[in-house]
Amino acid sequence: MRFPENFLWGGAIAANQCEGAYDVDGKGLSIQDVMPKGVLGEVEEEPTADNLKLMGIDFYHRYEDDIRLFSEMGFRMLRLSIAWSRIYPNGDDKEPNEKGLVFYDKVFDCCLKYGIEPIVTLSHYETPLHLAKEYDGWRNRSLIEFFLRYCRTVFGRYGKKVKYWMTFNEINAVRHFPLMGAGIWTPKEKLTKADIYQAAHHEFVASALATKLLREMVPGAKMGCMVLGALSYPMTPHPDDMLSMMERDRDCMFFADVQARGYYPSYIRREWEREGIELQMEPGDEDVLRYTVDYISFSYYMSKCTAADCSKYQKGRGNLTTGVANPYLKESEWGWQIDPKGLRYTLNYFYDRYQKPLFVAENGLGANDVLIIGADREPTVEDDYRINYMKEHLAQIKKAIVQDGVEVIGYAAWGCIDLVSASSAQLKKRYGFIYVDRNEDGSGTLERFRKKSFYWYRDIISTNGEALEE
Ligand code: BG6
Repeated sequence: MRFPENFLWGGAIAANQCEGAYDVDGKGLSIQDVMPKGVLGEVEEEPTADNLKLMGIDFYHRYEDDIRLFSEMGFRMLRLSIAWSRIYPNGDDKEPNEKGLVFYDKVFDCCLKYGIEPIVTLSHYETPLHLAKEYDGWRNRSLIEFFLRYCRTVFGRYGKKVKYWMTFNEINAVRHFPLMGAGIWTPKEKLTKADIYQAAHHEFVASALATKLLREMVPGAKMGCMVLGALSYPMTPHPDDMLSMMERDRDCMFFADVQARGYYPSYIRREWEREGIELQMEPGDEDVLRYTVDYISFSYYMSKCTAADCSKYQKGRGNLTTGVANPYLKESEWGWQIDPKGLRYTLNYFYDRYQKPLFVAENGLGANDVLIIGADREPTVEDDYRINYMKEHLAQIKKAIVQDGVEVIGYAAWGCIDLVSASSAQLKKRYGFIYVDRNEDGSGTLERFRKKSFYWYRDIISTNGEALEE
């Protein structure tokens, strides 16, 4: 009654939030380079000095030390993304950038040297800027071809080193954050629902074709989808609230439904009919969708509540998408409601629906850590709050596996080393087991320090989760 022996313990990072070196060795700009205040802030025409992502935590130059620290914790897996604009600087180039390819060769080799399985996200909120500005991102069908060119290059180059892939990070984010989610340059308020579905359609076709390509080029490799898994509870048992919950959850599940089942669900076809939405599809598009993913992954930070009339209730401070606050839950410093049991519910919900292996691609607590001098005179952070958060979430994963029989293949702690936040582009919103000395004003030595949670997670991994009981 324990975690499976081959459970993939580890952490997750994304290129644009940690690598820095945004214009080094032939890298082109990505949308993140012009989003200095994160998803909720203004977009600039050019990179501006206040954008902390331009330097990130300098993973580009320090990856060896960082991966060594991950291995010290016993990581069996590291989820990371390839910056598309490092490989194809503009996105539509004919030839890849060799220096970018060499960088990831070195990163994957380093992971493998330490026995760490790389799990690679092909597109983690970092569409090349040129594709956003010139093509309006995934609204344009040409992106399918550009994405597949990129996939062919990286599958060919890294197929021997990387066995687990995923296509689009939090693919359902396109609904709420069209620029970050799908590189759509047109301001959100000017987009129609049909525009969003059209962009999603292009992503679905691209994702399915990438899955097909991976199977042809790297037999045995696995492709996953990745959705933002914030499910809802009804605010009351009123049947109208219940139905509202069902509809809200389809916001998320629609994206997993298509990628896991291989066809557009009837509820979405009815919605399109009702609202007069006609997607532009080419012959064969729907057939292609049958190349479904091998596993389902999702990020989990919070649940939310919903009601037929949400305006009657207080909106959750940290609810970036929809939903109202749950009166039974506490929240993080950024207002994200903490709900470990919701993770067990989410795992069961996904498994019941698809019966495919699940991977928790992100989970963690963003907090304002305070660096102190520890007993051994080394700087550290006494982050018991993070340990408690993870302990409670991992206990629920264990229950899902052991008591409910859900197949969970791994757990990636988000931002296992401090990095720049996606929503607010802050460095003070820290998730890591490893503290990075970089401040909000960009100052700092970039030195790395082990937090208390570093040692705690190391024990969890070395006992394959048994230390959770202590
Ligand atoms: C997920 C993203 O939405 O949440 C990550 O995939 C992101 O890129 C993470 O960093 C945490 O969000 P934030 O805004 O706290 O960085």
